[in-house]
Amino acid sequence: MIGKAINKDIKEHDITLNFREELLFDKRDFVLFAVPVFAGRVPAQASQAISLFKGNNTPAIIVCVYGNRDYEDALIELRNITQSQGFVPIAGGAFVARHSIFPNMAPGRPDEKDRIKILEFAQQCKEHYNEYALNKPSNCLKVKGNFPYRAPSVIPLYPAGDDKCTNCGTCVKLCPVGAIPEHNPTETNHALCISCARCVAICPKHSRIFSGELYESIKMKFEENLAGIRKEPETFFNR
Ligand SMILES: Cc1cc2nc3c(=O)[nH]c(=O)nc-3n(C[C@H](O)[C@H](O)[C@H](O)COP(=O)(O)O)c2cc1C
Repeated sequence: MIGKAINKDIKEHDITLNFREELLFDKRDFVLFAVPVFAGRVPAQASQAISLFKGNNTPAIIVCVYGNRDYEDALIELRNITQSQGFVPIAGGAFVARHSIFPNMAPGRPDEKDRIKILEFAQQCKEHYNEYALNKPSNCLKVKGNFPYRAPSVIPLYPAGDDKCTNCGTCVKLCPVGAIPEHNPTETNHALCISCARCVAICPKHSRIFSGELYESIKMKFEENLAGIRKEPETFFNR
């Protein structure tokens, strides 16, 4: 939404699947980096993929999307990663989407209220880009978050398929880390799985799900602590 509101002719790069292409940008480009928040950080796979993007003082927008708990150090980490790759982050935002592991958190988000803020942000980014192109301010974009970053933590929750699985292979193809065996897509390789829940979201038969005692207890705790708390989008601009 943000990209298309800024320029209808955007070029999108999906960094979730086997992204190995080095991409070079120059001063006239304008790049939007968007990542989901995993455990308050940028997912490791995303930071690896972003290391293939090489800017040359290229202005950029940085965006993280989180599931209404907190984005903690994800946005500051994304700022630092993109900066070290030669980009100049001039605007940043943290937006809320339904939690991909706990769908009762932030259900229906982004909603109409979010959409208005997202489009407002895109408009502000456009204006800010024009200002930047004229004045080239050299100060660093200030965003919320801490460095050193919080330690990365692994959630030991792994989705699996049930008897609704028809072996269609969609999850095998779309798993970003190849954690679903082709010969039995109801299984999950726990050593590879990053719990991203893409298989849950894309399974046409709704066969792949999170379940079990640990899942139910974490879910209950999350929902108890955060039910009724609505986080709003936050935006930042380089002044
Ligand atoms: C492994 C994992 C860790 C997550 N950690 C957080 C978190 O720390 N804070 C939060 O609010 N949401 C968290 N979420 C929710 C995601 O940030 C949110 O669902 C995401 O923005 C949705 O994007 P997606 O559907 O493209 O994955 C996490 C989700 C996953 C899968």
